[in-house]
Amino acid sequence: MYGREELNKYYNLSRYHYNLVWNSDSHGMMHYGIHDGEADGFDDAVKRRAERILEKAELNEDSKILEIGCGMGGNAIRLAKLTGAKFIGIDINGEALEIAREKAQEEGVEDLIEFRETDFESIDTEESFDLIFGIETFCYCKDIEGTVSQFSDLLKEDGILILSDGFTDLDEKSGLERYLENKMCRGWLLEGLIHTDDLEEAAEKTPLELDEKEDITERIKPSSYRIFLAAVLLLPIGFLTRAVGKTEKMQVNHGLTGIYQLLTIQKGVLKQYTYKFVKRTS
Ligand SMILES: C[S@@+](CC[C@H](N)C(=O)[O-])C[C@H]1O[C@@H](n2cnc3c(N)ncnc32)[C@H](O)[C@@H]1O
Repeated sequence: MYGREELNKYYNLSRYHYNLVWNSDSHGMMHYGIHDGEADGFDDAVKRRAERILEKAELNEDSKILEIGCGMGGNAIRLAKLTGAKFIGIDINGEALEIAREKAQEEGVEDLIEFRETDFESIDTEESFDLIFGIETFCYCKDIEGTVSQFSDLLKEDGILILSDGFTDLDEKSGLERYLENKMCRGWLLEGLIHTDDLEEAAEKTPLELDEKEDITERIKPSSYRIFLAAVLLLPIGFLTRAVGKTEKMQVNHGLTGIYQLLTIQKGVLKQYTYKFVKRTS
């Protein structure tokens, strides 16, 4: 199992790749974009993934939101600017949170967002929220039942949980499919892909009702092609620098995952879904 230290090392090392290929230093986001008629170019598609939260949850200045695995803070900053709502962004990566705090200040929303170094599987707070959301971070969840139950406890009545992430919905996989999944997961330090049934069954044990399940796999594909292309172009440099001891194995695996992620999508092993659950206790 990948521990917190290993994950932090991975994200600190790969931040350079994300900045280079993903423009993350400008928008502070690290996820596949939503390439639909609304998005105007690549950066816009990445931002659109965050903005679509507003189509599923109405936010205003009184709303209290928790973002899990906020990374460099781009999602919370964007949504805070658009709505004036109050956010808490949590992540286990202290360096990313420092960047997030600086970005929030630059964007003038530092009073609306608090960034905390916290594991989303064990959130210690007395606060309750109108919305909890995570984009491409729940995939790191180890205790699915315990974590979903905790999210439910932290939500107010009629509160909303949105998880937009990579999953698998295959019940059986061929040897090749398992091989591709394992290789892809290794590069992103994932234990394996979470099955959609596991999330849905965990939610059924709580007051969280499934309100919407949106398959966004087709719309993220242009981002997937971009990662693939970047990997093909940059991997030779990665292999060379690894050979002279200037690059860590982890970084080369990250590059190889750029290839595997597209293949797992093409094979139907990796799907991207946006889930919306609503808490109903009565
Ligand atoms: C692919 S990045 C996505 C960041 C952000 N959600 C975005 O859309 O730009 C995944 C993030 O999840 C964080 N993460 C992984 N496991 C976590 C955990 N158990 N608790 C909190 N954050 C976690 C990582 O540190 C990383 O910042």
